[in-house]
Amino acid sequence: MDDRFITSTKNLTDAEIENSLRPNSFDEYIGQTKVKEALTVYIKAAKSRKESLDHVLLYGPPGLGKTTLSHIIANELGAQFKVTSGPAIEHAADLAAILTNLNQNDVLFIDEIHRLNKSVEEILYPAMEDFALDFIVGKGPSARNMRLKIKPFTLIGATTRAGMLTNPLRDRFGVICRLELYSTDDLKVIVKRSAGILGCEIDDDASVEIAKRSRGTPRIANRLLKRIRDYAEVQGQGKITKDIADKTLDIMEIDDLGLDNIDRKIMLSIINKFGGGPVGLETLAATISEDATTIEDVYEPYLLQLGFIARTPRGRVAMPPAYEHLKITPPEKD
Ligand SMILES: Nc1ncnc2c1ncn2[C@@H]1O[C@H](COP(=O)(O)OP(=O)(O)O)[C@@H](O)[C@H]1O
Ligand SMILES: [Mg+2]
Repeated sequence: MDDRFITSTKNLTDAEIENSLRPNSFDEYIGQTKVKEALTVYIKAAKSRKESLDHVLLYGPPGLGKTTLSHIIANELGAQFKVTSGPAIEHAADLAAILTNLNQNDVLFIDEIHRLNKSVEEILYPAMEDFALDFIVGKGPSARNMRLKIKPFTLIGATTRAGMLTNPLRDRFGVICRLELYSTDDLKVIVKRSAGILGCEIDDDASVEIAKRSRGTPRIANRLLKRIRDYAEVQGQGKITKDIADKTLDIMEIDDLGLDNIDRKIMLSIINKFGGGPVGLETLAATISEDATTIEDVYEPYLLQLGFIARTPRGRVAMPPAYEHLKITPPEKD
């Protein structure tokens, strides 16, 4: 079966598809209206002053379009785009080398910026604030500070957890944007746009169905679309109908709210093993053999938005809508 899926997309690899679906301008970037409006103004102002754009911090759950938006910002600025990530920069000297090689008004994108180590992060403070690198030259009593100027640039940091950024780093971003989960309407437009790029026909109610089950996340919407397209090519006439979408999603065990097995495991575990909670994140993670960070970053945002779980100081609690969705009678509390 897998082989057939592969041959049905033989012209493009998955990474190429991901790239081809990536919007290149604000016009193609659906939703996130407030963020887009604000950035458009700042970019215009920076361009008319011929200055670098203020440093931008983008935060929000994975798959909401942080990397995409950074590309677009660089495009709209007409600037060069350099990419790296927090865990990729091991030594302060590596970051210093990247910074000294930047051209005037370039954009440097640091993904997972909360994972920079301390000594690397400290290089960023004067770089962001004064466009300078500070060094200590020599040893002992003759040691002295040296300052090296670098060209003005824009740092774009992306993170799934703004709360894990240190204060000095966060304070140096002039623009802080939080990306929100997408509405079904926005996701429907994204699904249709992607289907168009992939060259597959899709019914209106099929795109609504995919949008509804994408848990507010464009990356998931695109991923579901690709799987459903495969199924439509193999089992149907190639056109994506609501019937084919429903069938594929059922096979993937994704329910009508977009919840998968792990979401259900999380909720069932809180309800059945911990009497509805509260239960600490680490305990919950160990019980279902998942990574606590993954639960917090990937699964929880959507469950919180649905009102299925609540975060309390003593841990996670299952809420009435979760019981209702899982068709479980809530326990009598005294
Ligand atoms: N606003 C948007 N409009 C259309 N497609 C989007 C949008 N945001 C994200 N996508 C799609 O979702 C995919 C994942 O986005 P990405 O920028 O990699 O997310 P993040 O960096 O936040 O994890 C992209 O390849 C793109 O196709
Ligand atoms: Mg990304």
